[in-house]
Amino acid sequence: MTNVVVVGSQWGDEGKGKIVDWLSERADIVVRFQGGHNAGHTLVIDGVSYKLSLLPSGVVRPGKLAVIGNGVVIDPHALIAEIDKLGKQGVTITPENLRVADNATLILSLHRELDGFREDAASNSGTKIGTTRRGIGPAYEDKVGRRAIRVMDLADLETLPAKVDRLLTHHNALRRGLGEPEISHDAIMLELSSVADKVLPFMDTVWVLLDKARRKGARILFEGAQGTLLDIDHGTYPFVTSSNTVAGQAAAGSGMGPGSLGYILGITKAYTTRVGEGPFPTELHDEIGQFLGERGHEFGTVTGRKRRCGWFDAALVRQSVAANGITGIALTKLDVLDGLDELKICVGYTLDGQQIDHLPASQAQQASAKPVYITLEGWKESTVGARSWADLPAQAIKYVRQVEELIGAPVALLSTSPERDDTILVTDPFED
Ligand code: IMP
Repeated sequence: MTNVVVVGSQWGDEGKGKIVDWLSERADIVVRFQGGHNAGHTLVIDGVSYKLSLLPSGVVRPGKLAVIGNGVVIDPHALIAEIDKLGKQGVTITPENLRVADNATLILSLHRELDGFREDAASNSGTKIGTTRRGIGPAYEDKVGRRAIRVMDLADLETLPAKVDRLLTHHNALRRGLGEPEISHDAIMLELSSVADKVLPFMDTVWVLLDKARRKGARILFEGAQGTLLDIDHGTYPFVTSSNTVAGQAAAGSGMGPGSLGYILGITKAYTTRVGEGPFPTELHDEIGQFLGERGHEFGTVTGRKRRCGWFDAALVRQSVAANGITGIALTKLDVLDGLDELKICVGYTLDGQQIDHLPASQAQQASAKPVYITLEGWKESTVGARSWADLPAQAIKYVRQVEELIGAPVALLSTSPERDDTILVTDPFED
């Protein structure tokens, strides 16, 4: 297939960075289509490590075009800072290799502040979401409320003041309610004018650009952020992010029609992790959970928070396969399970004495669903750096086959270390 969409099939942090980088070498264009700088991944190329939050992975590779689609919420300060930081590492970002959708929504300082005010207030009442405090949710609220400032507004100085007034009418009412100081019109205008010259050169009509590229046969890679269980509709609401993270959003968040999306690759960790609050049926509070966190280096890239760890939940990934239309998965971090005597996989749940095969949408039911496990024998040998099936112990292969069967999707790639070449390729998504 010409195009590939990469999505996380769990709660994010599945190891998308390495796989996206691996695929971006084969792509012409890499597109972000949702989320913002709440995402984060580290790319290691020729021994140099690059930390990206907002920019699509393609930017670090010469000759690739990176695109930020309309579905992304863009903090212009974060964008400028990331471009500057990469510049210091020798990666030059110009309008030649980065385009930003004219109709993408901006995150302003008032969004970041509001995210923080709310999380602080919620900490006291026990209703915290555990957001990244980057203003993601408040910016999407303004987008849906039709009062957002968008990238193109930076170029339209005549209509900008009225848009700022409309935004402030809403935000100052909220801030008064929270007992926080109001913001002046001039402060927002100053903020916007301070970033306009740096952002506008990258502005483009992304759907036109992608349509032309598609017609010429360019290979387009869509880079999802977060994971399916953090999707605003399909995730563990309200403990979710504020965008649709599923593959369908690659179309809506870029302006390319769904018929052109191609191969849907679900990045899937061989166990489960989540950061922030919310239900997690297979969470382990024992020494095995501790072991997975330490061996897997499970700390958030953006916030540094310790990730919660647990057994692989096949019922949740099966749901992800359905919601995304996943063609195949990239299974990551199998090596973290090396040395465990036995491994459990969740195949469904019990709820009020009934056995169910998927997690219900109700928050209360999600919190009380208990996992039903099958147990598999572990393996003692190391799988780190395996590059072919022959390098894997029989029990590890059995684990992978069991995962495939339970989730209803095949393994296309198997990653056995952070090194890009430590990958077993079963199917090249661009060639399938
Ligand atoms: P927000 O996206 O900052 O609003 O955070 C909402 C929820 O999504 C919180 O539970 C965050 O921890 C989670 N989240 C946001 N971005 C990521 C990510 O890149 N990886 C994992 N979790 C994330």
